Parts: sequence; C-alpha cells; structure tokens
Amino acid sequence: MRLRLRVWRQRSSEGAGRLVNYEVEGVEGGMSFLEMLDLLNLDLATKREAPVAFDHDCREGICGACSLVINGVPHGPRTATTACQLYMRHFRDGQEIVVEPWRAAAFPIIRDLIVDRGALDRVLQAGGYVSVNAGSAPDANTLPVAHQLAERAFLAASCIGCGACVAACPNASAMLFVAAKLGQLNALPQGQPERTHRAIAMVEAMDAEGFGNCGNHYECVAVCPKSIPRDFIARLNREFFRAAMIAHEFASPPPSGELEE
Ligand code: SF4
Ligand code: FES
Repeated sequence: MRLRLRVWRQRSSEGAGRLVNYEVEGVEGGMSFLEMLDLLNLDLATKREAPVAFDHDCREGICGACSLVINGVPHGPRTATTACQLYMRHFRDGQEIVVEPWRAAAFPIIRDLIVDRGALDRVLQAGGYVSVNAGSAPDANTLPVAHQLAERAFLAASCIGCGACVAACPNASAMLFVAAKLGQLNALPQGQPERTHRAIAMVEAMDAEGFGNCGNHYECVAVCPKSIPRDFIARLNREFFRAAMIAHEFASPPPSGELEE
C-alpha cells in the first residue's frame, strides 16, 4: 500500500509550523499507525533528512503518549482506539492522511507531533492521590466496597491521561480527564479524606493551566480511547458543588450569638 501523508513539521515551540507532503510505500495492513511512521522515518533517515518527531512509549494502548490527530480526529477514525493500536488495514491504498499534534493552548508543541502534556500531570499533583497508607493489597473483603462502586472506580481508572479529550474539545476542556481521575478516587473509601480538597484543588489547577470549561459538546467522549462515559463530568460538577458548599460553610463566621453562652 502507498500512502500520501501530510505531516505537521515544527522545529520547536517557537516559530511557525507547516504541513509537509510525504509518500510512504510498502505499508502493510498489519502495521500500526506508529509503525507506518517508523517506515517514513527510515526513509527520511536514508535521505539524511530529519525524522518526524512523535511521542510513544508502550505502543499497547496503556501509556497515553501517542498523541496524534489523524485526519482531524484525535487518535484517528476508530472508536475506543489509541493511535498506537490503530492498524493500517483501516486505510485505503493511495489515501491522503493528515497527521497533526494535539491543538490546545495548555499543550505547547515541543517539536513536530510532540506536545507538552505536563499540564495534566500538574492537575493530578493537585489532588490525584490518597494520604492513607494503603500498604500492600488487603485480603479480599477486609475493606468492603460495593461491587458497583468498584466497577465504576475501575472504569475511571482506565483513563490513560492521553489528552485526546482536550484535543477534541472546541473549548480545550480537560473535564473528562479530571472527572475520571476524581471519579476514581472519590468513589473509594481510601479516597475519602481528601474528597473535598481534591474536588476544589483539581478544578482550580485545571483552570490555572488554561483548560476551558465543558460546553456539553461531548467530542471528548467520542474520541476517548478508554470510553470514559460523559456522566463522570456531571459527577465532577456535583462533587465540586458539594466541596464549594462545605468550604463556604467552614469559611463563614458562625451566626451571631451562636458561640455566646
Ligand atoms: S478521559 Fe479518555 S481521552 Fe481523556 S485523557 Fe483519559 S483516556 Fe484520554
Ligand atoms: S504509545 Fe502508549 S498508549 Fe499509545
């Protein structure tokens, strides 16, 4: 199979980038999208041209590094599929494919297709932890967790922090990501001590990093490779509202006379 690629090339975060045309030959249906890019880079290296820089690590849909917008869609045309798990059999011989980086103010381009997704890490650092000493795995049933809650926490935990939700959103909102992380920890007993702090700290960190708000477009849900459902966002809003009410209650002076004998 021969493909016509239009790839975003940009030397650094400074300066302009542009789409550059390439042809790749010998692409096989069993190759992943990243292996197809490897083929392109082999050809570029042979011609002593700079290879296309792109992010990847596990190539198994686990790490969330492979941040590619393929023909306008983060992670490409297949639902619930990361770019590294997207196979070339889903493309046609002679097809033109446009490959771009995530586009969001909070994700500055480092080079070519690589963006800095450190903003997601900083949002996590604000509240994506538990302070209790969880130790090693407890014996089954020593800490009772309802089956539905365990399943829900597990679903939320499947978020790989790829940022495709941000890249797809017209507002560059990170709410699906934050909702998944908060939804996981706030659902479990171990996460309760920080529940209120977590909701406020992570939402404040999200805003400070320059992510937008949710406008109910649900493009995030459409591209999420782990199929995180949209009701997590509603849960995030409820958790934030609850936390804001509690914070307000503790910040308010007691009604006059309440502390007087
Ligand atoms: S919610 Fe989905 S799209 Fe967003 S970071 Fe997590 S896995 Fe990626
Ligand atoms: S390279 Fe790890 S999820 Fe794609």
